[in-house]
Amino acid sequence: MRVIIEKDYRDLSKKAALLVASQVILKPNSVLGLATGSTPLGMYRELIQMYQRGEINFSEVSSFNLDEYYRLPHDNPESYHYYMQENFFKHINLKAKNIFIPDGMADDIERECRDYEETIKHSGGIDLQILGIGSNGHVGFNEPAEQLNVTTKLVNLTAETIEANSRFFDSAEDVPKMAVSVGMATILKARRIILLASGENKAEAIKNTISGYVSTKTPASLLQTHPEITLIVDRAAANFL
Ligand code: GLP
Repeated sequence: MRVIIEKDYRDLSKKAALLVASQVILKPNSVLGLATGSTPLGMYRELIQMYQRGEINFSEVSSFNLDEYYRLPHDNPESYHYYMQENFFKHINLKAKNIFIPDGMADDIERECRDYEETIKHSGGIDLQILGIGSNGHVGFNEPAEQLNVTTKLVNLTAETIEANSRFFDSAEDVPKMAVSVGMATILKARRIILLASGENKAEAIKNTISGYVSTKTPASLLQTHPEITLIVDRAAANFL
């Protein structure tokens, strides 16, 4: 596990964007695993600028998002479909047919989860997975629990995550209580993984992520078993290292 400590959020975002860009330059038909939340926003902004300067081309890239809220329509501004469109996809030349996000609106959710796994497999697998981390150590929406999901599943969100994500909604009441999330093995099958963390409220989770022990109570700690994982954190998130 490599740990890169950057001065602040801006530097962290630039470094993350450079690593994504180098992946796409070296392999133009890369399969990217993408994350939502506030943390990757700066990275997306940097990548859009690189695209506008003609430095990267996404025309052959495919992308798979980690998760989506259950039963939140795609045009709801808090849905991850909407987030990805607004913050990244509409600004670059990634083809709509190559964009995949779990569909929390699907009538048959179990089937949607199975199909999502199959589609990832048929794409050849994820080359580079970008991850954020919840303050409770979740990745995607794999919440701390006695047991973690291996593959894509419908999951319950913890009170801590509902509270943390309520800042995007009018109130905690409005936050969906369930989501579709790729599982831990889906994440760990990616060839390379980059986890981003910014701010003091992530410091404890980051400490537990690289503790030397794996625990389902900190799902991100399982990343220690991956041979190609890089953490990019700012100084605040590295506070307890
Ligand atoms: C959300 C997402 C995660 C994300 C995390 C952190 O719940 N499902 O994929 O990494 O929370 O979000 P933020 O970057 O806003 O702190």
